[in-house]
Amino acid sequence: MQQLTIQKAKNYDESLYKLLLLADPSKEIVDEYLARGECYTANIAGELAGVYVIITTRPQTAEIVNIAVKPTMQKQGIGKLLIRDAIEKAKHMGARVIEIGTGNSSMHQLSLYQKCGFRLQGIDRDFFIRHYEEEIFENGIQCRDMVRLYLDL
Ligand code: COA
Repeated sequence: MQQLTIQKAKNYDESLYKLLLLADPSKEIVDEYLARGECYTANIAGELAGVYVIITTRPQTAEIVNIAVKPTMQKQGIGKLLIRDAIEKAKHMGARVIEIGTGNSSMHQLSLYQKCGFRLQGIDRDFFIRHYEEEIFENGIQCRDMVRLYLDL
């Protein structure tokens, strides 16, 4: 892989939104997170490769609320690098714990987050039914519940 650089997003243009909406189909929710948090982009040779958004939810608690890698660049380790970067950013923010949530149907994401050290914390039952108008299906499974994961820093 060519050299990857991670930096704070300078402008929220269409290509950035395209990525953010891969992780979360609701533009309204994406906008709320962008307003509350810090957005970082991964770039390879000037090309946007990935993005994550981190927010502070409670004292000493950070959460990765959005993470996405450009489809043509997935499965090359960029997601893992973004999570490792978010963990370092959370430490610098003074957080003692970092959290992330994903759908019950998001098998690869659950695997990725646990490979990065996150542990299961709980289930927010029917989160996706309550907050999203359209039904979401992945891997032949309806996405209903949010699986919450955490990592002590
Ligand atoms: N199939 C199988 N395993 C996968 C996978 C896939 N499609 N995608 C990720 N993984 C797992 C693998 O276990 C891999 O581990 P390994 O390196 O030991 O093989 C690990 O995750 C790391 O994968 P990586 O290449 O770093 O992830 P990525 O760059 O593909 O990014 C996502 C992962 C989730 C960010 C990316 O798939 C994505 O943007 N998805 C769409 C948006 C999304 O769902 N965001 C998360 C919302 S909760």
